[in-house]
Amino acid sequence: MTFSDDLDRIGADARQALTQAADAEAVDRIRHDLLGRSGQLTTLLRQLRTLPAEERPAAGQRANEIRRKLEGAIHERLAALRHDDLEARLGLEAIDMSAPGRPVAVGHLHPVQTLMRDLREIFHAYGFEVFEGPEVETEAYNFELLNIPPDHPARDLWDTLFVAEPGSTDGGIPQPATDGTILRTHTSPVQMRAMEALDAPIRVLTPGRCFRYEAVDASHAFEFFQVEGLVVDRDTSLADLKGLLEEIARAVYGRDVRTRFRPGYYPFTEPSVAFDIGCLVCGGEGCPACKRSGWMTILGAGMVHPTVLRNGGFDPDEYQGYAFGMGPDRMTMLRHGIGDIRLFFSADLRFVTQFSQGH
Ligand code: DAH
Repeated sequence: MTFSDDLDRIGADARQALTQAADAEAVDRIRHDLLGRSGQLTTLLRQLRTLPAEERPAAGQRANEIRRKLEGAIHERLAALRHDDLEARLGLEAIDMSAPGRPVAVGHLHPVQTLMRDLREIFHAYGFEVFEGPEVETEAYNFELLNIPPDHPARDLWDTLFVAEPGSTDGGIPQPATDGTILRTHTSPVQMRAMEALDAPIRVLTPGRCFRYEAVDASHAFEFFQVEGLVVDRDTSLADLKGLLEEIARAVYGRDVRTRFRPGYYPFTEPSVAFDIGCLVCGGEGCPACKRSGWMTILGAGMVHPTVLRNGGFDPDEYQGYAFGMGPDRMTMLRHGIGDIRLFFSADLRFVTQFSQGH
């Protein structure tokens, strides 16, 4: 066997082995057997110097050529294997672009929130800006500053949830906070906060959550919403209030809705009124929903009491104002013919998703 026969044999064997190498590891093994420190080709190249001097250049050149070719073949085989591997994985992990998508559950507003959003938009058109106040209030803001003194019987209108004084108990019963911290029973305290924060003319809408110590039934919840409105200016009147509320009722319930004002009583307004709309269930003939009266009350309102204006820093000889407080839960019940307020807080999706279209 000559040197060059050996070279050819090693080259041919290696090529043959490479075509059969099933993975990168097998190729690596072949490379090691050929070109490693005691690999066949390495060993053969070492024998170059035993050849006669005149044969050495040609043999060396040929050896290097074969070595380069084998390195190229190894490289190619690895690339081919990598390509096959990728193809196989692409085949396995193929994404079917024509398959229908997995539906994404899209949420929507709660019907009471939808109505409150509608109110915000409607009042916005009349120049009202939203002004929000805290849900945890003080008795001063919730009552006193609104012309409801501590022992006044009018307090009975608002069954109050008191916040406990930390650590205090009397006979095992937590005691009300000594600083008068309570959960607000209505959004009216935000009237005071708006008057403190803003200069006249004031035109604010104050939506928010309220809390009362109520026996829960179909029309009473201990947690509910109100949307309060307050206007303070030099030249406002009950006529303005009446015109505004009639427009609001039409915007919410349609052009044909009937409305009426009745005398009412609130300590923070004088005069005070209740605002009714014609019963949407019976059309005014009288039914159980309207307690056979043909009317349904949706809000209380009135001209801001001089004492309240004064408490808010306005001179009642110079400024007047009107205010109103609506019950969006009740208004939503009327809008959709819902018979039980407890459904709003039931977290029952079968109920809530009926209003996914907003109306
Ligand atoms: N705060 C009253 C309530 O919770 C509702 C109300 C009545 C608000 C008259 C007003 C108002 O602003 O003028 O029953």
